[in-house]
Amino acid sequence: MRLDKFLANAGVGSRKQVKVLLKKGKVLVNNETVKSPKHKVRPHQDCVVVNGEVIEYEPFVYLMLNKPAGIISATEDESQMTTIDMIDGYDHLNLFPVGRLDKDTEGLILITNDGAFNHRVMSPNHHVPKQYYVELAHSVEPSAVEQFAVGIELKEGLLKPAELEILEPDNCARVTIHEGKYHQVKRMFHAVDNEVVYLKREAIGSLELDPTLAKGDYRKLSAEELALFED
Ligand code: URA
Repeated sequence: MRLDKFLANAGVGSRKQVKVLLKKGKVLVNNETVKSPKHKVRPHQDCVVVNGEVIEYEPFVYLMLNKPAGIISATEDESQMTTIDMIDGYDHLNLFPVGRLDKDTEGLILITNDGAFNHRVMSPNHHVPKQYYVELAHSVEPSAVEQFAVGIELKEGLLKPAELEILEPDNCARVTIHEGKYHQVKRMFHAVDNEVVYLKREAIGSLELDPTLAKGDYRKLSAEELALFED
């Protein structure tokens, strides 16, 4: 594998940034300075060091992005900015978002190139809950808590029970759902005569959005965070 591709895939930087590092002599392969991006390395066999740090070969990438409003959950689009456009430095990895958030929804979205991981998080059989913070046009009626718990009826049929917690002030709520139908949270509140005016995903399973990530920022999941999704 080409050295520049290896380094870009490992998240060291974009191919352009990697070329600069190589030119500056910051990259060692088996203790020799290598400046050519075309130099071939054998992942798991050759020892690649950048600025004194050993770079592990990582075929899969797992990122959490704090999605801002106004960005679509797609890999590419002719006219609109996508979640993948927000990610630098993994250009050759065919990243995609795990599931979707609406264009106006903010918060936690996972980005990966691992199809099996995507399946584990999204498949209804794995029952990974998704938690949202919601602001509504009207106060949330206490009766909605019971209706969500029993299961809201949408045109596709009866939804799985969802947990609804009314917050202070009472036009704010936290809701946890166990499936991912189109516009699900908005339609659930619509079914109880309310309207979502702001929606933010706070958690997927037990993985919470890192509160230090500003809107539009992303970071790799730690090994412990990744392990939260193991069967
Ligand atoms: N439910 C919605 O209505 N929108 C989202 O973006 C996510 C869940």
